[in-house]
Amino acid sequence: MIIAVSGKGGTGKTTISALIIKHLTENGKVLLVVDADPNTNLDIKLGAKVERTIGDLREGFLEDTLPSGISKMEYMDYQMNLALSENEKFDLLTIGRPEGSGCYCYANNVLRVFLDKLSSRYEYVVIDNEAGMEHLSRRTTNDVDILFVVALPSMQDVLTSKRIKDLANELELKIKDIDLIVNSVKGDIPERVKEAIKPDFDDYHTVPYDEKVNELNSLGEPLLNLSLDSAAYKAIGEILGGVIEERRATNLK
Ligand SMILES: Nc1ncnc2c1ncn2[C@@H]1O[C@H](COP(=O)(O)OP(=O)(O)OP(=O)(O)O)[C@@H](O)[C@H]1O
Ligand SMILES: [Mg+2]
Repeated sequence: MIIAVSGKGGTGKTTISALIIKHLTENGKVLLVVDADPNTNLDIKLGAKVERTIGDLREGFLEDTLPSGISKMEYMDYQMNLALSENEKFDLLTIGRPEGSGCYCYANNVLRVFLDKLSSRYEYVVIDNEAGMEHLSRRTTNDVDILFVVALPSMQDVLTSKRIKDLANELELKIKDIDLIVNSVKGDIPERVKEAIKPDFDDYHTVPYDEKVNELNSLGEPLLNLSLDSAAYKAIGEILGGVIEERRATNLK
């Protein structure tokens, strides 16, 4: 099952991704984690080590004439293994930043190829995206089971979330479900915001503001250290339980 996380800047995409990853690892799932944001920071929220990013790989290797005696497939696997960081509970693929004036399009192509090759080896793949919509037009978010669009409880964020959903539909990307997560909710969501959400996301989820999450993030400490009774973590558990169950049932039909 491939889960991607998207949304406007600063809404909590990386935090939500890390909490999803915590939930899946606590439940012993075999996991590939993908930091698709060139401004790498999921590793910090996971306390993970990144040895090499896709941006560190030798540019042009997809098209390169190969070293003699190696098949294209073997060479690709070799490069892919270079970029894959093995951590205790998951493998981590980080897009990073291409060297100097290196092209992001190329790094995105490489990510797409790697994802195609790797996804089937894991029970779950969790992809944290950069802010905005480019990951849709670049088609790095494609062939996804669930796209979580993360928004703060504000009109502006709801509007951006609708645009993300519309673009995904327009591009006819292979995304089975697009769900909204309203994050960092303190008290009630204002009625006007709820009304704005309804037409596009009838069944949205909420994650409460959680001081413990903010504290760990501020200190640069891994969210995997969050206690199991954290309100935000519990909310993610409930969301995932429901959504994964529903997706399984639909897949079985
Ligand atoms: N549920 C929550 N409770 C408390 N604080 C939160 C919650 N979710 C996110 N935050 C805080 O919001 C800030 C932004 O979070 P995060 O880095 O996850 O956002 P992002 O959408 O990934 O940002 P970017 O667009 O830069 O990638 C962080 O300081 C984080 O601690
Ligand atoms: Mg982020």
